[in-house]
Amino acid sequence: MKASTSTSTPTPAHNAPLPPTAANPGRSSRIAPHSHIKGLGLTPEGYASSDTGGFVGQTIAREACGVIVDLIKSRKFSGRALLLVGAPGTGKTALALAVSHELGAKVPFCPMVGSEVYSTEVKKTEVLAEVFRRAIGLRIKETKEVYEGEVTELTPTEAENPLSGYGKTVSHVVVGLKTVKGTKQLRLDPTIYEAILKEKIVVGDVVYIEANTGAVKRVGRSDAYASSYDLESETYVPLPKGDVHKRKELVQDVTLGDLDAANARPQGGQDIMSVMGSLVKSGRTEVTEKLRREVNKIVKGYVDQGVAEVVPGVVFIDEVHMLDIECFTYLNALLESPMAPTVIFATNRGNSLVRGTSDIVSPHGIPVDLLDRCMIVKTEGYTREQVGKVVQLRANVEGLRLGEGVLDKLAVEGEKSSLRYALQLLTPASILASIAGRNQMEVEDIGEMNELFLDAKTSASMIGQGGGFDGGQSL
Ligand SMILES: Nc1ncnc2c1ncn2[C@@H]1O[C@H](COP(=O)(O)OP(=O)(O)O)[C@@H](O)[C@H]1O
Ligand SMILES: [Mg+2]
Repeated sequence: MKASTSTSTPTPAHNAPLPPTAANPGRSSRIAPHSHIKGLGLTPEGYASSDTGGFVGQTIAREACGVIVDLIKSRKFSGRALLLVGAPGTGKTALALAVSHELGAKVPFCPMVGSEVYSTEVKKTEVLAEVFRRAIGLRIKETKEVYEGEVTELTPTEAENPLSGYGKTVSHVVVGLKTVKGTKQLRLDPTIYEAILKEKIVVGDVVYIEANTGAVKRVGRSDAYASSYDLESETYVPLPKGDVHKRKELVQDVTLGDLDAANARPQGGQDIMSVMGSLVKSGRTEVTEKLRREVNKIVKGYVDQGVAEVVPGVVFIDEVHMLDIECFTYLNALLESPMAPTVIFATNRGNSLVRGTSDIVSPHGIPVDLLDRCMIVKTEGYTREQVGKVVQLRANVEGLRLGEGVLDKLAVEGEKSSLRYALQLLTPASILASIAGRNQMEVEDIGEMNELFLDAKTSASMIGQGGGFDGGQSL
């Protein structure tokens, strides 16, 4: 196996299958505000001594999360969950994202909000089950034997047709291929000749032939033939490097959720019922527990053969207190299943009633049996200086220029109300600045925004003084 990897080309193959598209583009919007977060920013010893990785302050929480990352990596975190608690805007979501960054680039991160389970069409537990499946990645490795090079010769050899007295058939085709390193002459099957004709391959083209399947692909015209009077529609490619015959390692990342969905879809209409069914259910049958078990069995086979590798991802359930007792019970079971992803919860509630019950009050609105499995990490509020640093980070990421004193003003606002409020002022204030024809924000832009928008505390206290929108007239 090792030898094959060394001969494989480092650049992705031109014919490599496209990576599966991100399952849910809509979800990226929930992550975009955290694009400055690159990781936990810990030292190799696990200390959060400086503000690296895009993270400012929050030292204890970051170090605690670092320990959790180590536990996850050494596979000692199964059956448990991480619970992040803290006031809104103290970086709980950012921490969850940083943990997943620390686990690796290709680790699936599936965020959801507790209230997402309440749908009129899908069972609550089904929503959870699906998220858990989407958070288990599968890396499928395939080594392919390929022939690649510029065609120097293309001669079909004909033979008498043994079935009829007349006409001839192609018995084989001789293809000469040239690379930078050498040339090779191949004697190929007539079916490959058909593929060559279909791709309209002629001498001077760079082609790619898969040894096992016989798939032929025309990459382009060799750039040795490029000349100024040729039509521009042709793509010219350089002569391939390496040997004509080589092994290429292709890696594909999918999730169990992708596999479930692909297998639930009817594979073409076999009978009228399946067509009807697919119309009614918009081309998708249900992903059942049975189907999941089937998929698991196939996946296990792949893993045993060493073809695939399981990459456990991260499920992040924000506002976890919004789940109800039924979901919590189901989560206990999910956490115990052998193929469970890492689970991170976040909440900003203290003691509260567990949803779906009438009398069970417990910390964070989570029943004690699930709470028992959680390692709890608290996030702290921010100082004025820290707010300033985060605002500066965001301004850099969004490409905004801050004038004299703007940072201080925003930091003061942030300290007074919340970090989020300070960050939220940033974009509208920049629009105001650009309307005024400036390319950098000034203090007056922030001031104006502050007059237009209220932070939560001010808004609540103003209404509180008046006794509500009706000016305190009510009894
Ligand atoms: N310590 C921090 N360093 C850098 N950015 C932070 C930090 N804490 C929060 N943020 C940013 O502030 C915003 C609000 O934080 P968020 O994680 O959404 O808070 P929460 O989930 O606790 O309500 C996000 O844009 C986040 O990336
Ligand atoms: Mg959040």
